[in-house]
Amino acid sequence: MERFIINGGKKLSGKVKISGAKNSALKLIAASILADSKITLRNVPQIEDVNIMLEMLEILGAKINVEAASKVIEIEPEYINNYEAPYELVRKMRASILVAGPLLSKFGRVKVAIPGGCNIGSRQIDLHLKGFKDLGAEYLVEHGYVNCHIDKNRNGNRLHGTIINLDFPSRGATENIMMAACLASGQTVINNAAREPEISDLALFLNSMGAKIQGAGTDYITINGVKSLRGTDYEVMPDSIEAGTFITAAALCGEKVEIQNARWRNLEVFYSKLKEIGVKITIIDENNIRVEAPLERYKPVNISTLPYPGFPTDLQPVITVLLSVVPGVSIVTENVFENRFMYVDELNRMGADIKIEGHHAVIRGVEKLSGAPVRSFDLRAGAAVVLAGLIAEGTTEVSDIYHIKRGYENFDEKLRLLGADIKLVE
Ligand code: EPZ
Repeated sequence: MERFIINGGKKLSGKVKISGAKNSALKLIAASILADSKITLRNVPQIEDVNIMLEMLEILGAKINVEAASKVIEIEPEYINNYEAPYELVRKMRASILVAGPLLSKFGRVKVAIPGGCNIGSRQIDLHLKGFKDLGAEYLVEHGYVNCHIDKNRNGNRLHGTIINLDFPSRGATENIMMAACLASGQTVINNAAREPEISDLALFLNSMGAKIQGAGTDYITINGVKSLRGTDYEVMPDSIEAGTFITAAALCGEKVEIQNARWRNLEVFYSKLKEIGVKITIIDENNIRVEAPLERYKPVNISTLPYPGFPTDLQPVITVLLSVVPGVSIVTENVFENRFMYVDELNRMGADIKIEGHHAVIRGVEKLSGAPVRSFDLRAGAAVVLAGLIAEGTTEVSDIYHIKRGYENFDEKLRLLGADIKLVE
């Protein structure tokens, strides 16, 4: 079984270039279903989740051409002739549910497996389904699948625009509804929409295909339906969460690390917290920053995760690692997922002193961590235990690293280039 072997204590320095955003690329691939001709995507991260989403589109009938070296993907959606997203793929990656909106809107029907929960929470899709119903679709849940179709008697073969009020600014629900509304008749409004930068990236992509979307990036998005969407050539935005992960690694054990393509404006709350801790961040320009780590001067802080622009839940595990070696008591509160502290037991096995009380992690900073065999419970928890291994005394062995490879492109290679002693072993 593949695992990472890390010998801690090395200082990081040099430059690291951030790859394309996983949580944008997956949606752009799903949105390609809506087009009537070829889509070219650039700066696509070479990660397992992208491979799964491309496999999904191939199962639907699309023709796919991957130029791995240049990170370019070509998708010909005009060959799609199947409208069923199978359980074995949706089970592997819940983001597969995002083919539902495009298939429903373009073909009038979709059968998609209901994604199970995962290590961080129940991961409901009720807001997605309520949005489809508001747009004029009918759905039936049976045998672990959702069967959705447009009620032809009421609407012919098109969804119809309407005002949709989301109970919670769900990213997936915002994305699925926005994609479905592109080919609906009339205007759709999504109120209390998610505001993440990846939502704006998806809207820019759809508009380059001829969609008429305004307000993406705010909590009030309007979509004026069109009859069809054309192919386009589009570059995926940089990955803010990967940037935040490397910035935190630099804050832990960096001498002088330059993070390129950091697009730092997408992480302003995260940066302000790092500065409050005492991390030295220099803005080089819109896309590049430098991080220096005067670890001895860091102060404890309290952090609460919230939907964007609040502190990103996906950076909660790595910031907890940083706070675990900052003298004093810090409190991290997880407000987005119900079970996102599974990795804390692994940190405590490395000598951290963290107590979980409900949605709160009470972190008492310790002098140092010590290397140990640990597991990756999910993508971001895996990144957290790797970062802990970078600063721990001795050797850390990280198993279940397939989680990490799902969402971080060349993670160990990029860390090695910065000076980390990390090896991938079978
Ligand atoms: C996206 O998941 C990301 N995944 C997650 O990143 C990220 O943690 C999450 O947004 C929050 O920012 C992708 O973009 C592929 P949500 P998503 O819909 O869309 C509840 C990573 O590590 N909810 O905003 O599923 C849900 O249960 C991953 O890259 C409902 O109750 O997030 C959760 O508690 C992990 N009903 C909360 O909302 C619904 O219909 C946030 O979900 C939908 C969601």
